[in-house]
Amino acid sequence: MQESLEIIKQEHRRLGALLICLDGVLSSVAASGNAPDFELYHAVIGYLEDFLFRYHHPKEDQYLFPKLRERCSSAEALTRELEQQHERGDVLLDGIRNSLGMYQRHGGDDFRVDFESAVHAYHKYEWEHIKREETELLPLVREYLNEDDWREIDQVFSSHTDPLFGKPTDDKYRRLFEEIARRAPAPHGLG
Ligand SMILES: [Fe+2]
Ligand SMILES: [Fe+2]
Repeated sequence: MQESLEIIKQEHRRLGALLICLDGVLSSVAASGNAPDFELYHAVIGYLEDFLFRYHHPKEDQYLFPKLRERCSSAEALTRELEQQHERGDVLLDGIRNSLGMYQRHGGDDFRVDFESAVHAYHKYEWEHIKREETELLPLVREYLNEDDWREIDQVFSSHTDPLFGKPTDDKYRRLFEEIARRAPAPHGLG
């Protein structure tokens, strides 16, 4: 029971690891002047989109938030705000993809800095969002959901394999996984 809570927290940690990894790669490129690894950047963004749009957000938006509202009417404002933050996060992610496109097409320091800024803005935003979910949402969920709710939600939350961190790792993401393992080791990264 409540396996979903562990899954959510684990997914948050993995998302954090991925963003730390990308920040680290960008700082190294900025400091060394080495050529940017566009293939890796696209892999990170592709995975973020897969992860957030196919797994993490739908589980929260479609199952966890409505179930909590059903059990605790005072969670209405918080869950609606978190839903809006998901939408705002999607816009910031679009901004990252667009600035990466410009950087890859034109090169140069200005486009590199634009891309870095978009990544940092997203990282900061996502970090705040995760913090609110962990400190405000999860305590309510823990308090108000009943055993039947947990059975239903646990089933939904454990019904997919993460394409990057699941076993075996999807080939598409193998290099990205290795990069994260190198830059953001457990417990902060792959725990
Ligand atoms: Fe969320
Ligand atoms: Fe979340």
